[in-house]
Amino acid sequence: MENFILNCHKDVNTQLENILPEASGSAHRLYDAVRYAVFNGGKRIRPLLCYGGACAVGDVDDNTTKIAASIEMMHAYSLIHDDLPSMDDDTLRRGKPSCHIEYDEGTAILAGDALQSLAFQQLTELVDLDPTVNVELIKMLVRGSGCQGMVAGQAIDLASTGTQIDLPGLVEMHRFKTAAMIESSVLMGAIGTGKATEDQLKALRTFGTSIGVAFQIQDDILDVEASTEDIGKKQGSDDEGKKATFTSLLGTEMAKENVNELFENSIKSLEDFDSSADRLRSIANFIVTRNF
Ligand code: IPE
Ligand code: IPE
Ligand code: MG
Ligand code: MG
Ligand code: MG
Repeated sequence: MENFILNCHKDVNTQLENILPEASGSAHRLYDAVRYAVFNGGKRIRPLLCYGGACAVGDVDDNTTKIAASIEMMHAYSLIHDDLPSMDDDTLRRGKPSCHIEYDEGTAILAGDALQSLAFQQLTELVDLDPTVNVELIKMLVRGSGCQGMVAGQAIDLASTGTQIDLPGLVEMHRFKTAAMIESSVLMGAIGTGKATEDQLKALRTFGTSIGVAFQIQDDILDVEASTEDIGKKQGSDDEGKKATFTSLLGTEMAKENVNELFENSIKSLEDFDSSADRLRSIANFIVTRNF
C-alpha cells in the first residue's frame, strides 16, 4: 500500500507540474497563485481514490493520472474559494497563508477560476479512449463539482451558517459539498479504464457516498480536536464561523459513531469485489483514522 501511495503521489504531482509550469509574462501572478494553491502539501486523497477506483475494475494507465490531476485541480480551486472572506474567511491552509492572503482576493478568485477550466481541459487530453467514455467522465466531473454537487453544498453551507440545521439537512449538505467530489473521484478512476460494469459502478458510488460523508464528519471532528499545527488550518474555525457541523449538532462522540457506521457501510458496499478493491479499503480506513 505504501508503494501504491508513493507512486500515485509521484505520478499525479509530475502530471500537475506538466500542466502548471512556472510562468513568466504579464499574467505570471495568476500562474504563481495557481501553483501556490496546488503545490502546497495537500494529501491528494481524491487522486488516490481515483487510482483506487481504477484498480478495483481494471488497470491504472496514463489516463488515470490525467483524470486524477483534473480532479485535484478542481479540489484545489474549491479550497481557494472556500477560504475567501466572503465564504469561510480562513487565513491558514495547509500550514501556510491562504491563497487570498499570500496574494490578494482578486487573484485568488481568478486562480480558482483558472483551475476549474484547467480541470476540464485536462479531460480533453485523454488518449485512446472511446468518446462516449470521455463524455461520461466530463459529466462525472460536472456532477461532483457543480450545482448538483460541491457548489450546491457550499451554497447550503453558506445558508446554514449561524442557523440551526437538522440532521437530514446536515447529511445532505455534507453529501453535496464533499461526498459528491469523492464519489466522482472513485467513479472517474473506474470509468476511465473503460472496463467498469454497471453493477460495479453502482457499488463504487455507494462506497463513495458513505466514505465521502465520513470524510467531512472527520474534518468537522478534527476542526474541534486536532491542533492547528496538525491540520494546517486554524483549529476551532468552524465554531468561530458559526458553521453547521456534525460536532456542533451531535457532539464529538456521536459524530465519531457516525464516522464508524459510514466506514462500515463503505466497506460493505465493496463486498462483491476481491482484493482488487483493497486499495479503496485501505484509503477508506485512512480517511476515518487520519489526524490531519
Ligand atoms: C479539505 O479537503 C476540504 C474538505 C472537503 C473537508 P482535504 O482534507 O482533502 O484537503 P487537502 O487537499 O488534503 O489539503
Ligand atoms: C469545505 O468544507 C468543503 C469544500 C467543498 C471545499 P470545509 O470548509 O469544512 O473545509 P476546510 O475545513 O476549510 O478544509
Ligand atoms: Mg467551508
Ligand atoms: Mg473551510
Ligand atoms: Mg472543515
